[in-house]
Amino acid sequence: MKTVVITGSARGFGFAMAKDFRRLGCNIVLSDLKQENLDKAKEELEKMQGDGKVLSVVCDVTKSEMLENLWQASVNEFGAVDIWINNAGVNQPDLPVCMLTEADIDFLLNVDLKGSINGSRIAFKHMVEQGFGQIYNIEGYGSNDAMKTGLTIYGTAKRAITYFTKALAKESENDYSGTVKVMLLTPGIMITGFLTEANGGKTKVELTDKVKKVYNILGDLPETISAYVVPRMLKNKKNNSKIAWLTTRRAFGKFFKALFKKNNYFD
Ligand SMILES: NC(=O)c1ccc[n+]([C@@H]2O[C@H](COP(=O)([O-])OP(=O)(O)OC[C@H]3O[C@@H](n4cnc5c(N)ncnc54)[C@H](O)[C@@H]3O)[C@@H](O)[C@H]2O)c1
Repeated sequence: MKTVVITGSARGFGFAMAKDFRRLGCNIVLSDLKQENLDKAKEELEKMQGDGKVLSVVCDVTKSEMLENLWQASVNEFGAVDIWINNAGVNQPDLPVCMLTEADIDFLLNVDLKGSINGSRIAFKHMVEQGFGQIYNIEGYGSNDAMKTGLTIYGTAKRAITYFTKALAKESENDYSGTVKVMLLTPGIMITGFLTEANGGKTKVELTDKVKKVYNILGDLPETISAYVVPRMLKNKKNNSKIAWLTTRRAFGKFFKALFKKNNYFD
């Protein structure tokens, strides 16, 4: 039975993946900032059919000692970790860079970039010791060099995540005989609280009608994307690979479909 650790999994994409991994028979370690949100998520998961067990551990990914504790608590409960997903992420205020504060920038980079780097560092070290394991990092806007005012810092972090993940996969191949598989997930646009919140919920992001129109066409509920990626993650054995939902082909298909059927996620 596989054990899967997912950071930032009390809601959104992390929670959607937790549900699919549970359905497919894995042990799940939920982790997020607040115990009460984890309790709710754990209760919901435990109501579902699944052979595995569910553990929840409070972990702020900006704190290395909490990430280390997340690893140790998971191993104490389940003996090993097969899949570690650095999913926790935050959006930025919808402002040009010159209008952001240094605190806005630090906050985002600490969660989205350093959180995934440190999560990878800690999981990698322990996976080398246990002799196996897979690490997934999440791409996002900017990973493919897309640029837009209001997403420059987020895009910088996600562009760096892509580089970091590929470089870490190379390290695994060159220095550790590929013992740890390091991979990317590219979910596309997901209709979650992430789209309308920045600074950990303290700042609201107002979506213009034009942006809503694009999200209605290209976006999906996190459960739709998770149902596609999770079985592929469980099958995937290839280091330095990527599982992508919103490919160019799928995006074209979505624009075509939108001529006949319109989604309305926002009203
Ligand atoms: N929503 C999208 O359109 C989209 C698109 C591409 C990639 N992503 C990425 O997918 C991932 C999940 O996004 P989502 O849409 O589910 O967001 P979400 O806001 O719904 O969920 C993110 C979760 O991360 C948690 N979190 C925030 N800061 C944390 C911290 N310091 N430590 C631990 N947990 C923390 C939050 O409490 C929340 O439960 C993120 O990495 C995001 O960048 C999202």
